Amino acid sequence: MLQVASNGDRITGAVTTQWYGPVTMQNARLDKGVLTFEVRNLNDREHPTRIWTVRRTPKGVQLDGQLWESKIHAGGRKGTVRDAEARAFRFQTLPDWKTVEQVPLAPRPPMGWSSWNKFGANIDDKTIRAMADAMVSTGLRDAGYIHVNIDDGWQGTRGPDGRIRPNANFPDMKKLADYVHSKGLKLGIYSSQGPRTCAGFEGSYGHVQQDAQTFADWGMDYLKYDLCSGEYFYADADTVKRSYAEMGAALKATGRPFIYSLCEYGRFEVGSWGRDVGGHLWRTTGDITDDYAAMARIGFDKNGKPEHAGPNGFNDPDMLEVGNGGMSLDEYTTHMTLWAMSAAPLLMGHDLRQTSPAMLALLENRDVIAVDQDAKGIQGKAVRKDGALEIWSRPLADGAVALALFNRGDAGAKIEARAADAGFGAITAARDLWRGQSVAVDKLTFEVPAHGAVMLRVEGK
Ligand code: GLA
Repeated sequence: MLQVASNGDRITGAVTTQWYGPVTMQNARLDKGVLTFEVRNLNDREHPTRIWTVRRTPKGVQLDGQLWESKIHAGGRKGTVRDAEARAFRFQTLPDWKTVEQVPLAPRPPMGWSSWNKFGANIDDKTIRAMADAMVSTGLRDAGYIHVNIDDGWQGTRGPDGRIRPNANFPDMKKLADYVHSKGLKLGIYSSQGPRTCAGFEGSYGHVQQDAQTFADWGMDYLKYDLCSGEYFYADADTVKRSYAEMGAALKATGRPFIYSLCEYGRFEVGSWGRDVGGHLWRTTGDITDDYAAMARIGFDKNGKPEHAGPNGFNDPDMLEVGNGGMSLDEYTTHMTLWAMSAAPLLMGHDLRQTSPAMLALLENRDVIAVDQDAKGIQGKAVRKDGALEIWSRPLADGAVALALFNRGDAGAKIEARAADAGFGAITAARDLWRGQSVAVDKLTFEVPAHGAVMLRVEGK
């Protein structure tokens, strides 16, 4: 809905969209019959505003513009005051801030699979069932991957009672959950506090409690709550926090245990308050893509502050790309090593039916998983850097230390693991986790391929 008024030379107005509510016109001007104005473009630093135009056409008026990633091209006719009232956006009021007492459901970083990285919004009941089957047949379930998470793209429309319904690709969510549960797995779902999700589906704005109850009724065990269009309404630390607390409290009120994943791209130091809204994991950045540069940028440098991580609260550098084909074996080895060293959630993102033996070996390595899942939940970090080489250390619950030797450079390099890297005076035992063999303690210099990694578990004194 386009509303515009003029007072002398001054033109004011707003465009009300289903995604973002009324978007106010800035610097509106009329030139040769074309109305041009700017709108705030959410949190896009590159394009803080976007230019929109409105022109007359034989049929009425034509609006063209772009907001964040969505292009808007809409035609319309002149309406009445009554039309405007009927189409007015209903703003929701957030509850006042109140801590949500966290349910300790994630003592270790969650492990499983999510539909987004491989399938995007092209998902259906059949694919989710097939992933559950493959999780079992590949042995991945028994290696610890138990969450099957439906990401964006399952939503249909709301019924007359406001209750969200899945789209035609998901005939019966409850039956799907029963099926996934019968395999010894858990089922997860996805929503946003905005009117629309990032892929443009129905969000939970105005239906937070109702949606939490629906997800519980369906038998869901996990919710990823993605800010998306919600950032138009909740754009500062206070409102973003309160919007997460609102859903956190709503999930809790259902009485069903939910792992609660906060997806707001690492804004406002989410790690310092994620637990206070009932969250168990929180994204540290925007989205990963299946290439070394993107993975390395996040894994090495944007994986969250280690002091925020610990049992029941983990930094989430995003889902795995292992098996999607965009990186070499050495690069995927670095990906897994970084995530395990970082106590990161291990949510696979490929088609599980097409897991090559090499990828399966990466994903199922029990020693590496044990580091990721270590009971202390201490997030490892770089203790030494030398040009493109990084040495990371992560103390483990039994007194041993995980060390990772990373080569971020484009040529092979020798890296030595030193006792001091692990905080020891001397290393007394060492195991190469990817090779699956012990290493003599006087032979701790490794040839590390370009973009590759060596991962060790060392004991010392
Ligand atoms: C955002 C999230 C992604 C994914 C998509 C779905 O971009 O960060 O992980 O959930 O939305 O639209």
